[in-house]
Amino acid sequence: MRYPSHQWILLKFILVGLILVGYQLFQLLSLLNGDQTITNAEAGTKTHKILVWHWPFRNSFNLDGDFCKDKFGVPNCIMMDNQSRLSEADIVIFHNRELIQGQQRLPVNLKRPEKQRWVWMTMESPESNGDLKPFNGYFNWTMTYHQDADIYSPYGSMVPKESETHEPLESFIPKDNTDLACWVVSNLSQHHERTTIYEKLKTVIPIKVYGEAVNKRLDDQTLLTTISRCSFYLAFEYSVFRDYITNQLWLNAYMSGAVPVVFGPYREDYEAVAQPDSFIHVNDFDTIEELGEFLKTLAADRERYASYFNWRRKYTVEIKHWVETACKFCPKISSMPPYKVYEDLDTWQ
Ligand SMILES: *[C@@H]1O[C@H](CO)[C@@H](O)[C@H](O)[C@H]1NC(C)=O
Ligand SMILES: *[C@@H]1O[C@H](CO)[C@@H](O)[C@H](O)[C@H]1NC(C)=O
Ligand SMILES: *[C@@H]1O[C@H](CO)[C@@H](O)[C@H](O)[C@H]1NC(C)=O
Repeated sequence: MRYPSHQWILLKFILVGLILVGYQLFQLLSLLNGDQTITNAEAGTKTHKILVWHWPFRNSFNLDGDFCKDKFGVPNCIMMDNQSRLSEADIVIFHNRELIQGQQRLPVNLKRPEKQRWVWMTMESPESNGDLKPFNGYFNWTMTYHQDADIYSPYGSMVPKESETHEPLESFIPKDNTDLACWVVSNLSQHHERTTIYEKLKTVIPIKVYGEAVNKRLDDQTLLTTISRCSFYLAFEYSVFRDYITNQLWLNAYMSGAVPVVFGPYREDYEAVAQPDSFIHVNDFDTIEELGEFLKTLAADRERYASYFNWRRKYTVEIKHWVETACKFCPKISSMPPYKVYEDLDTWQ
């Protein structure tokens, strides 16, 4: 009779073991579940939906998958471009250009959920935005490069590095620096003040000009390498308006490594978004001749020239696409003021 009792003891062991394992499994599961409940509650996660009514200049993005999360690490944010899903959207983005040209219309005849916000979006200067009166009273928010926009969408920004670096300033200066100044321009109209400045400046210093205006279009690849050969880049805006600072500065100048000579809004506007010693402003000089002479002297003085790269020890430049800005705005939707209407859209500038 010994043998069966051994078996019995073994069975008891197995039973107790199973119960213990089962209990631990149960605890583990409830712990996991519990944790999940807590994080959800803490984050107060509500999924927001952004509808892009039409793509600016037909430059569409493939929104398959969890676009905002996959591309920019923003969870709980659905970006969609299917107009049939209007009623689901928390916010609807309308790009101005296609509206003023009549290629797209506001869906004013469709039922609009009470909490849905309509966003008027432009990255262009007020000069190119057309007559906005027909759109008064429809929009709740603006999305522009203007600092006061409800959804602030700059062309680029300076981002502080995690810690200041200490490499020699020379290391920031592009190596094959052969030209004094250059400019990439698509429209050399005599109506633009920047053209007048260029005409005067080129009598003082040599300027290499590229772009559609002179039939020397640079593709994305050659753009930055070409500009990086220049000590200075003329980041001249065609249109002078508050905060209108485009990729002439953020991409062409900063990303290539040339020191920007800017023409556009006041120095204060530039300093609001860029380090004061990272650019030279045309307005810093009484005459264009003085500006030209200064650029010549500066290029010849390596040490002084290098001081225009000091900020690069502390900051990096990021180019911002409005799509990224829209995704990153998602978590802020709930905390925006509950009610707003642009009765006079021209006040956005
Ligand atoms: C757009 O959304 C509607 C309604 O949800 C759906 O029936 C349709 O298949 C969608 N179209 C596309 C192209 O995804
Ligand atoms: C160039 O600018 C002028 C003045 O703003 C404008 O009238 C003209 O249409 C522009 N040309 C092109 C090709 O964009
Ligand atoms: C958005 O604007 C419309 C006017 O077109 C207005 O009726 C609606 O109450 C506004 N909604 C919010 C949330 O501000």
